[in-house]
Amino acid sequence: MTDLKRTLGEAAAAAFAELGIPPTLGRVTPSDRPDLADFQSNGAMAGAKVAGKPPREIAQYVVDRLAGDPNLASVEIAGLGFINMRVSPAALSVRANEIAADDRKGAVEVEDSRRVIIDYAGPNVAKPMHVGHLRASIIGEAVKRIYRFRGDVVLGDAHFGDWGFQMGLLIVAAMDEIPFVRALMERLVTAPGGFSEADSQRVLQELGNHITLADLDRMYPEAAGRAKTDVEYRDRARKATAELQGGRFGYRLLWKHFVNVSRVALEREFHALGVDFDLWKGESDADPLIAGMVDELQAKGLLVEDQGARVVHVARPGETKKKKLEDGSTVTVPSPDPLLVVSSEGSAMYGTTDLATILDRRKSFDPQLILYCVDQRQADHFEQVFRAAYLAGYAAPGGLEHIGFGTMNGPDGKPFKTREGGVLKLHDLIEMAREKARERLREAGLGSELEPDEFEEIAHKVAVSTLKFADLSNYRGTSYIFDLDRFTTFEGKTGPYLLFQAVRIKSILRRARNEGVEESKISVKEPAERELVLMLDAFGAATAEAYDKKAPNFIADHAFKLAQAFSKFYAACPIMSAETDAIRGSRLRLARATLEQLELALDLLGIETPERM
Ligand code: ARG
Repeated sequence: MTDLKRTLGEAAAAAFAELGIPPTLGRVTPSDRPDLADFQSNGAMAGAKVAGKPPREIAQYVVDRLAGDPNLASVEIAGLGFINMRVSPAALSVRANEIAADDRKGAVEVEDSRRVIIDYAGPNVAKPMHVGHLRASIIGEAVKRIYRFRGDVVLGDAHFGDWGFQMGLLIVAAMDEIPFVRALMERLVTAPGGFSEADSQRVLQELGNHITLADLDRMYPEAAGRAKTDVEYRDRARKATAELQGGRFGYRLLWKHFVNVSRVALEREFHALGVDFDLWKGESDADPLIAGMVDELQAKGLLVEDQGARVVHVARPGETKKKKLEDGSTVTVPSPDPLLVVSSEGSAMYGTTDLATILDRRKSFDPQLILYCVDQRQADHFEQVFRAAYLAGYAAPGGLEHIGFGTMNGPDGKPFKTREGGVLKLHDLIEMAREKARERLREAGLGSELEPDEFEEIAHKVAVSTLKFADLSNYRGTSYIFDLDRFTTFEGKTGPYLLFQAVRIKSILRRARNEGVEESKISVKEPAERELVLMLDAFGAATAEAYDKKAPNFIADHAFKLAQAFSKFYAACPIMSAETDAIRGSRLRLARATLEQLELALDLLGIETPERM
C-alpha cells in the first residue's frame, strides 16, 4: 500500500526517465497552490538541461503520458513547465478507505529492519537534572517510538550516570555527615570474610534508614560546591572515586544504595512524563570491560602516552585548529582533540565508559546503529568517541550518530531555571504545567462536571502534551523559549489544542454510537473532504521524514495540520445532520480514521489523549 504522493511520483518519474531525465528529478510534492492542484512536479525545469529540450516540451511529454491515469482527474502544464495534478475523487476515496482500514493508518515500514539502540535522557545519580536532560528525554522517547513504528528493533537505554566523580563526592559527604555510615565503612574496609549476600541485603536495608533521597539531593550540591574550593576535600573525593572503581567493598555497598534510591525516584518521574526505558543500564556496567579494552587499544597501537595520561589520537592528517597558550602565543594542534582514555591518575574517564559501553552493547545486542540523543554541547565528545570506536573497529562506520539539540531557554534567553533560580526538577516542572493546565481547563469551562480524579488525570495529560509538543514542534536543533502561557492555550499550535481536537472527534463518535449511526464506505466529494484525505495521505511521508532526519517535528507538524484540516472539514461537512445515511456513514468513518491517525501521531510523540475534557 503506497500513498498517492508516491504512486504519482513513480508514474511521473517513469515518464521523465523515458526522456533520459533522472527519476529523482520527477519527484512529486504537495502543491503550493491547493486551489489549482493537489500535487505538482517541477522536474521539467530541472530536467531541461539533461534532456537538452525546453521545459515546456518536456512537461508536455509527461502530461501526455500521465493523461488517462485513473488516479488523476486532471494533469496540466502551468507557467514555465510546472506539472499540476489533481487527484480523482475515486482515487481519493479508495485511498481514504484503505487508510481507515489500516492499523498503521497509511504509513509503511522500512524495507530493512535494523537493530537500534537509542541512548537518551542520561540522568545522573544525585546530580540534579537540567533542561538538557529534559529535552533529551522528550526527543529521545519520540525518536525511539518513531524508529520502532518504522519497523526497527529498538531498545531505549537511560545510560545512567552512576560512575563518575559525583559518586566519590557523595561517599565522602555521607561519611562525614552520618556516623552510622562512617562506622560501617570503617568496618567494611576490605570485603570481610564470611559476609554473605544476605548480609549485604541487610546492610543495604539499614542504609535506607539512614540515607534518603532528600539526603542525596541536599548532600550533592553541598559537596560539589565545597570541592570547588577545598582542595583537600576534592582529593578525598577523588580517592574515594578511585577506591570505589577499584572495588572497595563498603563503598560498593554504599554506592549501590545511592544508585537504587536515585533510580527509583527518577524512574517514577520519567514515567509521569511518559518516558519509559527498555534498559536502565549505567556507566558502571561498562566498567568490567575497561581493563580489557585498554589492553586491546594498546595492542592495536592506538593508545598513546600524553603527559602521563593515555589517549587515542582521532584527528586525521591535516585536521588542525589553532590553540591559544597561557603565554598568549598560539600553536596549531590536531582537531578534534585526542580522546582521553586513562587519566594521569589512572582513572577511566567519561569517554572511556562511552567507548566501553559500545563494546558492551555489541556483546549484548549487536546494534547496527546507536543514536545518542544528548545536548548539542557534547558534540565534540561524541565526535572523539565515535572516531576512536571506528579506529578500534568497535562499530561500523556510520553506526554511531549523535542527535544533538538546542536548549530550552528562560525569558532571559539563558537555559531555563526554576523561579528560585535552581536547576529544574522534573517533578516541579510537571507540577507547574499541571497547575497551568487546571487553570486553563477551568477558564474554558472544561471538565467541570467530572469527578476530581478524572479532572486530575486530564490536567496531567494536558500538562504532558504541553511540555512535549512545545519541545517537539521545533526542529530539535533550534533553541526555544519556555513560555507556559503560550504553550497551554487551546488555540494555535499547541499540545492542548491537539488534545482538544482529538477529544472533540471522540465525542462525535460517542454521540453517533449512542444514536445508532453506523459508519459506511468513504466517498470523497466536498473540497474539505478532499483536503482532509490528502492530509491523511501525507502521514506516511511525515513519518518517513521524521525517521530519516531523526526529527519528530515532522510528525508534530503533520498532527497539527491534520487537526486543522479536520476542523475545516467539520465546519463545512456536518456529520450527524448530513442529508443521507450514506453521506453520514462516510463522514463518520472519515472522522474515525482522522482520530486514529491523530492519536497515532501523538503517540509517536509520546503524548496520550484523554477520553474527554
Ligand atoms: N550523564 C550524562 C550527562 O549528564 C549524559 C549521558 C549521555 N549519554 C552518553 N552515552 N554519554 O551529561
